[in-house]
Amino acid sequence: MPILLDADPAKAAPLVAVLPAGTQVVDSADRLFTWLTHRSDEYAVVLGPSLSVPEAMTIADRMRTVLPTASVILVRDSVDTDVLTRAMHAGVREVVSAGDLPQVTASLQRAHALWAALRGTASAPAKLGRVITIFSPKGGVGKTTMSVNLGIALMRGGENRVCVVDLDLAFGDIAITLQLFPTHSIEHAIGGESSMDYAFVEELMTPHESGLMVLAAPSQPDARERVSGALVTRLLHTLQSHFDYVVLDTAPAFDEQTLTALDETDDCIIVATLDVPTLKNVKVALETLDVLGVAEGHRHLLLNRADEQVGIGADKVEGILGMGVTVQVATSLDIAKATNAGRPLMLSSPSHPSSKALKSLADKLMGYETAPPAAVPPQKGRTPRLPRPEPIPAPQPATPATTDKRDEGPKRFRISRR
Ligand SMILES: Nc1ncnc2c1ncn2[C@@H]1O[C@H](COP(=O)(O)OP(=O)(O)OP(=O)(O)O)[C@@H](O)[C@H]1O
Ligand SMILES: [Mg+2]
Repeated sequence: MPILLDADPAKAAPLVAVLPAGTQVVDSADRLFTWLTHRSDEYAVVLGPSLSVPEAMTIADRMRTVLPTASVILVRDSVDTDVLTRAMHAGVREVVSAGDLPQVTASLQRAHALWAALRGTASAPAKLGRVITIFSPKGGVGKTTMSVNLGIALMRGGENRVCVVDLDLAFGDIAITLQLFPTHSIEHAIGGESSMDYAFVEELMTPHESGLMVLAAPSQPDARERVSGALVTRLLHTLQSHFDYVVLDTAPAFDEQTLTALDETDDCIIVATLDVPTLKNVKVALETLDVLGVAEGHRHLLLNRADEQVGIGADKVEGILGMGVTVQVATSLDIAKATNAGRPLMLSSPSHPSSKALKSLADKLMGYETAPPAAVPPQKGRTPRLPRPEPIPAPQPATPATTDKRDEGPKRFRISRR
């Protein structure tokens, strides 16, 4: 987006009329440079006619080092050779007469083309973050709880940039689980499919005190219908260009948005609990993931409420589901309390056995192998049955993270082709 600097609203008004919607207008150099410290994707700075020539030259000169990819466009009530010479020396790209508004538009178009060309050639191939989807065909098994705690674990104390997207679009509770009160949500991205960039998505996100960024679900369930698969895809691609890990909490269903997200998924965490109906549905879901080719070799089974007293152990689960248990999280009052307090266990009690279990999962996803903590305490008088996970190919963060998987060919299921 361009940014216009002019302290005189009357002088700024005709320019605003021809600038693209969403253009930021500021009234001082200080505000301009403050704004630019948060945004690196502004492609033009328009210096309005009410600025004095020396002030405009100082700003243009400073822009050379602050944001060299942005063109400075100087608008003057009258243009003479003296202004042109001084502007050229200060690094102004174009000087336009205030009365020639079509020329202002044309200058902006040239600025945008230059910016796009500079970005295309100067930047290294974009590093793409990994999409980690937490999925279960059953509700209430702990998907949201695991999403937020895993998201925090993946941050590794600020080493990684992580966001959580609430794709449980009708009944998402990520925000409430983190005690956040978002002003924007995915709903506000509707219609922005074709022109979405990170600056736009960033405005819709809510930061958590931990540093985790949250893209909340709509506040009203009916908005779900208007979130298209194309929008989900575009959102994820945009987030991947900025975050190291994009964690997706999902609805307990194979709806269009979930299918689209699964199609973009690098690692899929399947959450199961030790009850027969859930295991039956997880089995069916795994078969569906097989058919769709979702995250093959990168699926991880998370057994929540993994308490042996209920008569089914991890070994039985592995037999039923035909895959190893990656991590177990025991039933814990502390987890339920943490949800009610709006402060994830990973923050309030990082050395809790459940936090350690999720940290071990996060380590595995990041490519660090750690010894899995004993999540389920041995029962008195019984021989503990330890899970015997199938070997899971270790994720290779370096290569996949730097490879644009959109170029990998037609391996992935595309809902749009159905
Ligand atoms: N291991 C656990 N021990 C105790 N309570 C847990 C555990 N895991 C989750 N819970 C609690 O269970 C409740 C449901 O968890 P959560 O909201 O994460 O499930 P969900 O799968 O996201 O549900 P939904 O499908 O409705 O979105 C929460 O109150 C949470 O605190
Ligand atoms: Mg949930």
